[in-house]
Amino acid sequence: MCPPEHFTVDYAINPWMDTTVPVDAALAVKQWDLLRTTLHGLGHTVHVLDPVPGLPDMVYAANGAFSVDGTVYGARFRHPQRAAEALAHQDFYATVGTWRFAGPEHVNEGEGDFAYLPAAYGGLILAGYGYRTEPAAHAEAQEVLGRPVVSLRLIDPAFYHLDTALAALDDRNVTYYPGAFSPAAQRVLAQLFPDAVLADRADAEAFGLNLVSDGRNVILNTEASAMADKVRAAGYVPVPVELTELKRGGGSVKCAVAELRP
Ligand code: ARG
Repeated sequence: MCPPEHFTVDYAINPWMDTTVPVDAALAVKQWDLLRTTLHGLGHTVHVLDPVPGLPDMVYAANGAFSVDGTVYGARFRHPQRAAEALAHQDFYATVGTWRFAGPEHVNEGEGDFAYLPAAYGGLILAGYGYRTEPAAHAEAQEVLGRPVVSLRLIDPAFYHLDTALAALDDRNVTYYPGAFSPAAQRVLAQLFPDAVLADRADAEAFGLNLVSDGRNVILNTEASAMADKVRAAGYVPVPVELTELKRGGGSVKCAVAELRP
């Protein structure tokens, strides 16, 4: 995670970003810190990446890389405003733990567009494209990580990253909003995950799918109360955290957390 000390919205690279509305960076840091301590309180180790002035979107740490089984597939950002973030993440993996790092040739925004289900089909990667990550990066990720990658086309600009439309609930099951995907991608998801928890447009607009789950606890933002009910009904424990400021940049819980899979 990376604290939003330098958080602003002074460029707009997704439909949620409104440069005319000022953000409250102090409040953003306060809310972010509650997310950090919530994860810690649930027994998770949280590493903190130093924020860099001039990189306001660094708080969305999920975009910096994607790791599976000790291998890190580095990010390459679509927009020049975020390009320098990739190096900060690369440096992190060089200094914390032991990782094999693979630098990318193709544009990809890390866990924003990649999800991993270790127990689905022996280990399956889901990958989104349409707005940020290039389909060529899906093939590149498969080469680097040695797991099958299923490409899913996103069709709604409001849900421009896979993690705004789909989340792993545990090692084998997902929740998603079908309308964010092309009709063919919807059929693929229905085939792979017949027991998925289906979300609706209101859930997705509340960033209810932008969640982090440890297989039992599902951390999601407070606005997504209907989504909390759905995950509870499916047997998980919703853990709501208030994250209103981060929504101004077009992200929520999942965007703020890069999961490490050593
Ligand atoms: N403002 C950021 C962008 O548009 C938000 C990134 C959200 N991150 C995510 N994992 N969906 O790039």
